[in-house]
Amino acid sequence: MGSSRTVLWTAVGLVLAGAAGFALFAHQSELAPIAVPAPGSFDKATVERGRVLANFGDCTACHTREDGLPFAGNLPLKTPFGTIYTTNITPDADTGIGGWSKVAFRRAMKDGVDRKGNHLYPAFPYDHFTKVKDEDIDAIYAYLMTQVPVKETTKGNDFPFPLNIRATLSVWKALFLDKTPFKPNPSKDAEWNEGAYLAEGLGHCAACHTPRNMMGARTTPAYGGGFAEGWYAPPLNKDNLSQQPWTKNELVVYLMDGWHAKHGMAAGPMTPVVDALHKQNEIDVFAIAAYVATLREGEKPINEDAVRNAALRLDWGHLEAPPVAKEFAEGAKVFEARCAQCHRSNGGTVALALQTSIHAPVPDSVVHAIWGGIRPPTGALGRSMPALGSQMSEAEMIALVKFLRARFTSRAPWSGVESAVRDARKGG
Ligand code: HEC
Ligand code: HEC
Ligand code: HEC
Repeated sequence: MGSSRTVLWTAVGLVLAGAAGFALFAHQSELAPIAVPAPGSFDKATVERGRVLANFGDCTACHTREDGLPFAGNLPLKTPFGTIYTTNITPDADTGIGGWSKVAFRRAMKDGVDRKGNHLYPAFPYDHFTKVKDEDIDAIYAYLMTQVPVKETTKGNDFPFPLNIRATLSVWKALFLDKTPFKPNPSKDAEWNEGAYLAEGLGHCAACHTPRNMMGARTTPAYGGGFAEGWYAPPLNKDNLSQQPWTKNELVVYLMDGWHAKHGMAAGPMTPVVDALHKQNEIDVFAIAAYVATLREGEKPINEDAVRNAALRLDWGHLEAPPVAKEFAEGAKVFEARCAQCHRSNGGTVALALQTSIHAPVPDSVVHAIWGGIRPPTGALGRSMPALGSQMSEAEMIALVKFLRARFTSRAPWSGVESAVRDARKGG
């Protein structure tokens, strides 16, 4: 994303322009702290329901740092504006949310305001959680309040001025925060509506799969593809890039196990999503799949078998595989040395030509998969891809990525391969 500087400065301008006018709305009152509720004061069934709902919201994935205690926060999240750390949402009175009333917690989840009245950054997906019913938010509250309190102070973000001033978020909210509650669609059945409620609210699927504007707010087309932590989250709408049409059942397998023989593996920021869904009730995941499957309405029909056979013929070592063009010989050499042991004809992996990331408009996910490898999701523990980027030079990695695009797709070459590779190697 080479234009990040322009993006940032346009955003800064907009925020400054709006800040003056909206300063009046910026103020939110502090809600008095309460004595930490006794875990025994919540009924068991509510706590259990809260556990299941929190799992749909991926609260643990975001609010637990590597080697940290559950819900104690401080996981760094990279955004186009800088790094933000997730907060401590254990019931510790001083550093967590132990002193938060139910009302304060609801306000955070629906309005993005903390107990003291500060606006919260939408890296916390409250623009989705605002769709969640109060009784469900209360169940999550009960669950969190029965967790082990941990003393851990949250680190500050490194956003530049004036984005580091929380009051400027009132402008963002006035422009982009849609607090309309979830409305069921009466022309669809109960399963679809339950799936829509979970996906649009707690599941916040659109947070990654929908494009964002310069101010980091979701824009149209809904589910038209977006970015998350440097990865490309492919479109789930009619413009999806999948080489085999997704059926509802295939979606269920992918969403629970993180792998499907026709589609490949969930990688990058999709991994914690499927790890959470792996633990859920199948009925709920079927509901999500029922909803997600309809997002694709209007897609171009695919001749499934023809595409599949053509993809298999491109696999490395296939008898009918085409020769490598001279300009990609360097990349092919790296592929042969580092990748072909797994990614070859009948090698046990899904044909590369069938994997969505190779067909994406940007090389980002492929570059990240090579650099950092793929941690297998809970439901597909036997499969993983090692981090291989450090075993090759920058030039070799660039040649490899260009080779992959040319060899396994008939799409236009990627632009920006050099900068994507350089950024990944710098840890970006
Ligand atoms: C995509 C990552 C992400 C997910 C998923 C997420 N959060 Fe957060 N959350 C954040 C970030 C980042 C902040 C800090 C925002 C800020 O500092 O402005 C935050 C802040 C909060 C706060 C405010 C706490 C405080 O002390 O100010 C609460 C409460 C909260 N999250 C609860 C939840 C719950 C409950 C869930 C699951 C239903 C959840 N979060 C899921 C990223 C996330
Ligand atoms: C934190 C960001 C994030 C969230 C939240 C998220 N996804 Fe994803 N998703 C991704 C990324 C990144 C990929 C690409 C993974 C890869 O390259 O293997 C992906 C891939 C997928 C795919 C495969 C698409 C294809 O054509 O190959 C499906 C289906 C999917 N996600 C559905 C969902 C659903 C349903 C939800 C909500 C329950 C969801 N995602 C939530 C980031 C996210
Ligand atoms: C030890 C085996 C192994 C090696 C070596 C390996 N991979 Fe993979 N790779 C996998 C597995 C397993 C997957 C998951 C999908 C599947 O099952 O096919 C995968 C998935 C991928 C994907 C899809 C990523 C996504 O976004 O979902 C790409 C692209 C890829 N590999 C490229 C490469 C390249 C390039 C190399 C060489 C630098 C390489 N792989 C080396 C095992 C391997």
